[in-house]
Amino acid sequence: MSSPFQDPGFLRDPYPTYAELRRDGAVRKLPGTGHKAGYAVTGYSEARQALAEPGLSKDTARFFAGKETGRSLHPAVSQNMLATDPPDHTRLRRLVTRAFTPGAVDLLRPYIVDLADALTDSWVPGDRVDVIESLAVPLPVTVICQLLGVPAADRDAVRAWSTDLFAAGDPRRIDAASHGLAEYMAELVASKRRTPDDALLSALVAVRDSDGDQLTEQELVSLAVLLLVAGHETTTSAIGNAVLALLRHPAQLELLRSDPSRIDRAVDELLRYDSAVTIATWRWAPEAVRVGDTDIPAGSPVSVSPGAANRDPDRFTDPDRLDLERADAHAHLAFGHGIHRCLGAPLARAEVAAALRVLLTRFPGLRLGRPADQLRWRRSRLIHGLESLPLLL
Ligand code: HEM
Repeated sequence: MSSPFQDPGFLRDPYPTYAELRRDGAVRKLPGTGHKAGYAVTGYSEARQALAEPGLSKDTARFFAGKETGRSLHPAVSQNMLATDPPDHTRLRRLVTRAFTPGAVDLLRPYIVDLADALTDSWVPGDRVDVIESLAVPLPVTVICQLLGVPAADRDAVRAWSTDLFAAGDPRRIDAASHGLAEYMAELVASKRRTPDDALLSALVAVRDSDGDQLTEQELVSLAVLLLVAGHETTTSAIGNAVLALLRHPAQLELLRSDPSRIDRAVDELLRYDSAVTIATWRWAPEAVRVGDTDIPAGSPVSVSPGAANRDPDRFTDPDRLDLERADAHAHLAFGHGIHRCLGAPLARAEVAAALRVLLTRFPGLRLGRPADQLRWRRSRLIHGLESLPLLL
């Protein structure tokens, strides 16, 4: 039996697979052997528990120690804050929390709105555009690069490495991208050390140089890589999924168009309905642990699925329906839960809202430029998102 996640239809529409898995058990053993055997968590309450479960570790390096994987991911990519447990996780996260609070994001909001406007300024009603390429990619890439202090001239290269990192397929390509990005970031750190600016990376370099106990050089580079990568592939897909969901639900779209002040709240239901992070990053059980009603043996990998949890009928009434007025949509797990809950959630929300606002207010005739069942989805295990989304303006 092959993994249910390899089903060809899974990339396009993972929800029937999730429903089937959930019917067999909200926590279920997957096929596979050795370090690939594992458990899938598809129920809402079980996913919420698993995401915050201290008995499940994120320490990937410890899991793979002594195991032959045949891989050569750069350590700055494989060992980052999202792949560490407390106390290291606590120490690293504290260094960057302040830059991503709702208050900090409020200060950035005018910049994000202006950028969304600027990216669509040349669009004319009647045009065809790929909203992924022309808005959903450049908006978050530009914002996170601006926040970190990545020069504009380097943004295309950064984006290409980051896309390769998330692509399923040739592991050599992923490994090569990890080296490209890590080496680039190490050089950027060196250049900020010589010529500091007022962006986040220079602030982290200052922490590193004034108190080496707080942050090692490798941690500094890996934190910067994580912020760069986590901050845009996800948001790009969230914007694409949200636009597609609205275009497939004209009455809901009309609701937002008639009252754009509803957009901020609608973002949560859109994130719930079609979650960009369909399977969370990797966890494992150093000791035997119980998740829901299932005993997971020591040494097992665990895949927790926010995408599945957000469609669990035991948590959300009529979960396969998009309902922008759903009162409990904010309970979704699209940003994860527990100590690793998305650091960039306020920023991501602001970016998705800015993209929707500009599309809905500027282009009243917006519609799909290709039938929904012919759209191309990204070949990624963790991210559920479109490769392109052609629109008629
Ligand atoms: C809609 C867009 C986004 C979605 C759906 C999303 C989703 C997630 C999820 C599910 C996690 C937890 C993963 C796990 O526990 O396995 C996470 C973690 C994280 N996200 Fe996001 N994210 C988004 C945007 C962003 C942005 C804009 C940033 C900006 C820097 C960001 C930075 C991070 C970081 C640094 C972590 C790791 C936190 C930790 O380990 O403590 N994300 N994100």
